[in-house]
Amino acid sequence: MKLFTAHTMVAAAAALAFAIPAAHANEAQDAAAGKPLAQADACFTCHAVAGTKIGPSFTDIAKKYASKSEDDAEKAIEGDIKNGVKGSMMMAHPSISASNLDKIADWILSLKK
Ligand code: HEC
Repeated sequence: MKLFTAHTMVAAAAALAFAIPAAHANEAQDAAAGKPLAQADACFTCHAVAGTKIGPSFTDIAKKYASKSEDDAEKAIEGDIKNGVKGSMMMAHPSISASNLDKIADWILSLKK
């Protein structure tokens, strides 16, 4: 029984060791895919990578969330894109898929690094 437990823990640790770099690789790929999506969704009409246009720059948005965890930052940014920011020109984008929202948020957050 003890042997079985040890084996299970080794297997779990090995799985974790593989899972961590894989998640990072995905985020890098997502970030690379995010910019063309933001361009296709006309985000650059109001936002630039650097410098305020009608809306804040994507770099400033990334910095605003720099102190939050990656998960919290992604959730907040995805929510703002999907639902818009009431009382501002940031309109809702209900037709952007969850997977594309994730890619756009990963790209925005990559700008603070
Ligand atoms: C018509 C102009 C306009 C377009 C188009 C637009 N935005 Fe915005 N966006 C704004 C403005 C203005 C704000 C600032 C809202 C506020 O907080 O007052 C904003 C805010 C945001 C925020 C929240 C920033 C924060 O402080 O939390 C995100 C994220 C964002 N935009 C992403 C996008 C993305 C991605 C797209 C394309 C899908 C997009 N925006 C398209 C004008 C626009």
